[in-house]
Amino acid sequence: MNHQPPRTIAESRCLVVGAASGIGHATAGLLRASGAAVVGADLPSATWPAEPGSLAMDVTDQHSVAAGVVAATEDMGGLDAVVNCAGILGPVASAAATSVDDFERIVRINLTGAFIVSQAVLPAMAAAGYGRLLHISSTAGKEGVVNMPAYSASKAGILGLVKSLAKEFATFGVTVNALAPGNVVTPLFAEVPAAQQKEQAARIPMGRFGTPAEAAALIEFIISPAASYTTGFVFDLSGGRATY
Ligand SMILES: NC(=O)c1ccc[n+]([C@@H]2O[C@H](COP(=O)([O-])OP(=O)(O)OC[C@H]3O[C@@H](n4cnc5c(N)ncnc54)[C@H](O)[C@@H]3O)[C@@H](O)[C@H]2O)c1
Repeated sequence: MNHQPPRTIAESRCLVVGAASGIGHATAGLLRASGAAVVGADLPSATWPAEPGSLAMDVTDQHSVAAGVVAATEDMGGLDAVVNCAGILGPVASAAATSVDDFERIVRINLTGAFIVSQAVLPAMAAAGYGRLLHISSTAGKEGVVNMPAYSASKAGILGLVKSLAKEFATFGVTVNALAPGNVVTPLFAEVPAAQQKEQAARIPMGRFGTPAEAAALIEFIISPAASYTTGFVFDLSGGRATY
């Protein structure tokens, strides 16, 4: 097993969670094209796991995540970087129309899932003296989006989570950051009602939505060895929509 920290993304061994679709799928593809070793993980389905080296994982299940992390680590001979793109939008509904069950389900996947993934990977990264962990927040977590109370709350929770974890692991060569996309054209974004998409589009200075490839390019940088002095940070990917 190679115990030297990677010097480039091509030398990095990466686990991408939520790799079957959207941003995670584009990220896994870009990392592979850049020469990195990549294991993709996602919920089991009729079409997943499909690619060689991919595996089934449910971020809400500690045992599933732990087993997946062990398998990915064995497969690649180590684990240098983890990108957690697993998430759901959930029903777009007023607070009154959002059941507590729905609220808890959305928070369980988007926020508790991020904690479970963090717990499963950070100790070994700290022991190795190197690691990159990235979770996906959202402008919804910074601004709050109408009719998405659970989604917004779960994404705001990601901000506190990464800032806390970043401090805990700051002296171990491990960075923990968040990416806050605005609108990226994926199956999840397609669930946003058309009128709300239009209203959001009008607030994007660049005048267009982002692409999964644009998200993947920024993610690749954030988890690269070169991004060594930024931790506990929320990277923007909103075409100028977010103002902080
Ligand atoms: N697309 C956007 O505009 C946008 C904006 C802000 C934030 N985000 C966030 O980016 C991340 C990726 O979203 P996307 O737009 O690519 O959506 P997507 O629906 O295309 O992909 C999300 C993936 O997460 C997987 N997933 C869901 N629950 C899971 C679980 N319990 N365990 C493992 N995997 C699970 C899904 O199967 C899917 O493959 C999400 O966290 C999302 O909230 C997206």
